[in-house]
Amino acid sequence: MADYTRLLTETLNTVQQEGRYRVFMDLQRQYGQFPYASRRRQTGHVDQVVVWCSNDYLGMGQNPDVIKAMHHALDSCGSGSGGTRNISGTTRYHVELEKELASLHNKESALLFSSGYVSNSATISTLARILPNCHIFSDEKNHASMIEGVRFSGASKHIFKHNDVNDLRSKLQSLPLETPKLIVFESVYSMDGDISPIADIIDLAQEYKALTYLDEVHAVGMYGNQGGGMAQKLGLSDHIDIIEGTLGKAFGGFGGYITGSRLMIDVIRTAASGFIFTTSLPPVVLAGALQTIRHLRSSQTERILHQKHAALLKKKMREAGLPILETSTHIVPLMIGNASLCKKISDQLIDEFGHYAQPINYPTVSRGTERLRFTPTPLHTEQMMDDLIVALQKIFKHFDIPLTTGKCDEFFIHEENIKEKVG
Ligand SMILES: Cc1ncc(COP(=O)(O)O)c(C=O)c1O
Repeated sequence: MADYTRLLTETLNTVQQEGRYRVFMDLQRQYGQFPYASRRRQTGHVDQVVVWCSNDYLGMGQNPDVIKAMHHALDSCGSGSGGTRNISGTTRYHVELEKELASLHNKESALLFSSGYVSNSATISTLARILPNCHIFSDEKNHASMIEGVRFSGASKHIFKHNDVNDLRSKLQSLPLETPKLIVFESVYSMDGDISPIADIIDLAQEYKALTYLDEVHAVGMYGNQGGGMAQKLGLSDHIDIIEGTLGKAFGGFGGYITGSRLMIDVIRTAASGFIFTTSLPPVVLAGALQTIRHLRSSQTERILHQKHAALLKKKMREAGLPILETSTHIVPLMIGNASLCKKISDQLIDEFGHYAQPINYPTVSRGTERLRFTPTPLHTEQMMDDLIVALQKIFKHFDIPLTTGKCDEFFIHEENIKEKVG
């Protein structure tokens, strides 16, 4: 008989030995106080911390008008939607929000899903299954939900080097023009904070007659004159077949969606089991998203402050000799390069200094590129940044990690160099 306990325990032991066992922080966000949150330690002691790693990028989860709209929906409709979309679970809020999302991305239609993860997995797998002999071309750094969609589709896959249009071209040209092709990629890659060559990928798609699927999860709300993402910012929305996004990050709520032509959305609506066979999102969540998106379509304040604060934190970290990966987005990765050390720095940062940034280890990033990832919002102050930097400098000193005077790539801490420091 299989020894299930031993097999399961061994799995965890491996993760623990590699220093990447995940311990979730017990946090309670406080309305009106973001980015502060209460953190409950295992001892039961509660203290206040500054959260630096929230994907509520613009702090919209705390916006008073959003909260008001959600209260209104809750008080008038109750809690859940009461069913799948097909069985009494399509409410006025679903209809309105899908209309708003389509308009945001300048598309004919939109479709809501339980999450961004589900929208990627369900749409990619469904589309590539429907198109006969479809080949998928997927960036090697795509999110797990897109990888799952590619796998579930059963279609032939071609993984191209990250953001490498030459590699993509060489893979596309190996197939006849008549073969259905789907290129799946992201606009902003959330761990490195880099941007994909969207225009070049569109050109290739046109040349080789491929469909394009763009994940804008880390761009919606924050880029484009209405928060329609990087494609909107670059004036390219009309050239992408499917734009996917989340309501859970800069829109501050929960849920995911795709937008595209009426025909495309109708097909996914009809065929994607991850859309059909699940309870639809509750009205209260959709009411919040609707208010947020309407606000961000007309207000530039949050976007301007967001970029300003990200640039300021990068500048301060650079000047302090902290090895950040240079990015052209709002994401500030502080490179550590070792899973145990990354965890220790993160623990000390919150336990001793009250600043929270979770360690990012394998498999989220590749081994040897472990990091802390900071996402300053419009609500983080300059004083918070200064306090954070003093704390990080003290921690670097404690672990005997040298500060850098050059760029991160010149400095990068390699695993071999730090093994003895973490024991
Ligand atoms: C690139 C990317 N796509 C999709 C998702 C999933 O979105 P959601 O959190 O709404 O499920 C994430 C989540 O982290 C992501 O980083």
